[in-house]
Amino acid sequence: MYYLQNNEFVERHQVHVDLEDRGYQFGDGVYEVIRVYDQKPFYLAEHLTRLFRSASEIRINLSFSIEELTKRLHTLINKNNLIHGNLYLQVSRGIAPRNHAFPKEAKPVFIAYTIPSDRPIDTLEQGVKAITTQDIRWLRCDIKSLNLLGAVLAKQEAVDAGCSEAILIRDQVVTEGSSTNIFFVKEGKLITHPANQLILHGITREIVLEQAKKLQLPIVFEALSHSEIGHVDECFMTSTTMEVCPIIQIDEKPIGDGTPGSLTRQLQAAYIEEIARLALVSN
Ligand code: PDD
Repeated sequence: MYYLQNNEFVERHQVHVDLEDRGYQFGDGVYEVIRVYDQKPFYLAEHLTRLFRSASEIRINLSFSIEELTKRLHTLINKNNLIHGNLYLQVSRGIAPRNHAFPKEAKPVFIAYTIPSDRPIDTLEQGVKAITTQDIRWLRCDIKSLNLLGAVLAKQEAVDAGCSEAILIRDQVVTEGSSTNIFFVKEGKLITHPANQLILHGITREIVLEQAKKLQLPIVFEALSHSEIGHVDECFMTSTTMEVCPIIQIDEKPIGDGTPGSLTRQLQAAYIEEIARLALVSN
């Protein structure tokens, strides 16, 4: 198994994480998770554009281009013979003696590696249960920052309640999930939070919105109020790893009849078609 550290392909024992890496001490960096289907990274250009944007928003200048990184990631997938799985990338501000302000001498540290995994087919079929909890994260959730404490604590609260996802509530409205974007269906309309600084602009969310447009579904970019959750017909979450996944219960109350909704199923099917379409295209 190879790892891409800065520009070099190295083996696990050669990966070097420094005690004074700012990613390690401050969470001072950004990351991406990209799905690989049939050896092909799904919507790679969109993920890399978001990585470069996240880095630039926290004033990290990357020394390589998106084109160079694209080539290296294809090489990594081929070297590791990854068929289905995830590609994890992270960039930290670099290594320097601990001090909150940006160190002049630090050079960004980049790492990428592959994780084989199958699609969560059973979960996608059955749907998942969720809880709601307060969104205690910072005000730049559009940056895919390594600081994930708000998300980690929320997800653990969900797991402790026997659920898979925590739906986050800020100022009495739903923002997103701890690691997913959230959609609701009410009276045939698709409702999701607008892409502002309070949510991550999910790549999967964008793909689903494109497909919803093709299916001529009305889309409402509004934050659903917490009290409205009990009155929606359907709910689903989207992410690179969970694709389009039905949410069938929230805070112990069934959504609709407690089974995946029909528009959710339609959008799930459209997403799977998109995976199949791109898996046929060569690299
Ligand atoms: N999570 N919102 C949050 C807070 C996320 O962390 C993620 C992704 C998403 C969905 O974004 P996308 O569709 O681009 O994957 C929304 C990744 C998968 C993770 O941290 O593992």
